[in-house]
Amino acid sequence: MRPLIAPSILNADFARLADEIAAVTEPGEGADWVHVDVMDGHFVPNLTLGLPVVQSLLAATELPLDCHLMIENPDRWAVGYAESGAYNVTVHAEAAADPVALAKDLRAAGARAGLSIKPGTPLEPHVETLRHYDTLLVMSVEPGFGGQGFIPDVLDKVRTARRLVDTGHLTVLVEIDGGINADTIAAAAEAGVDCFVAGSAVYGADDPARAVRALRERARAASRRDGADGPDRDATP
Ligand code: DX5
Ligand code: ZN
Repeated sequence: MRPLIAPSILNADFARLADEIAAVTEPGEGADWVHVDVMDGHFVPNLTLGLPVVQSLLAATELPLDCHLMIENPDRWAVGYAESGAYNVTVHAEAAADPVALAKDLRAAGARAGLSIKPGTPLEPHVETLRHYDTLLVMSVEPGFGGQGFIPDVLDKVRTARRLVDTGHLTVLVEIDGGINADTIAAAAEAGVDCFVAGSAVYGADDPARAVRALRERARAASRRDGADGPDRDATP
């Protein structure tokens, strides 16, 4: 599988979101997913956007929306994003009361189900839950704000998740979020990440589409160099 790049619009111009998504849309080369950070001012100390904005974005782009819900009580609110047509809906393991039931509801509503863990949250207690999920979002900054520094310690969790996938225990796609840029993406790719969220590295660049291409190229080179991928990870999906 080629590395997937998911620009986070948290760092885009919120008055021009459709244009900002168009700026990273290039068939074959541009963004694979658009990462949408939903923050409620409770689970994280920041407030962004919610379902009405996501519904408008769904009508404005063909790209799959990757909704990252940094909210309390996702058991109540997450399914609405799936029902509206989000491609992947990620909830936080620290916030979900019944993550297995929630994953089933998300899938029944037509979305992929994602589970995210904050930098300080261990992976092991959530491994069995992840058997019900399609994506694992490993946070490499404290959730809440773009533009923070990458926390390399989380790569141990990525390596563990990669092993669990490669040995067939899990089938999740491994995604990383926070501080991914031209300097950090190679280490994440070597550790086994499949999908890279990048906010400031894309929307802080003069040419966001070029930044996406450059990030993908670096990730691709690093996962080749690693050589521990298995035959499958370098093939185009
Ligand atoms: C942080 C968000 C991230 C953020 C990433 O809570 O979940 O998606 O936008 O931004 P950068 O890439 O600038 O760290
Ligand atoms: Zn995010």
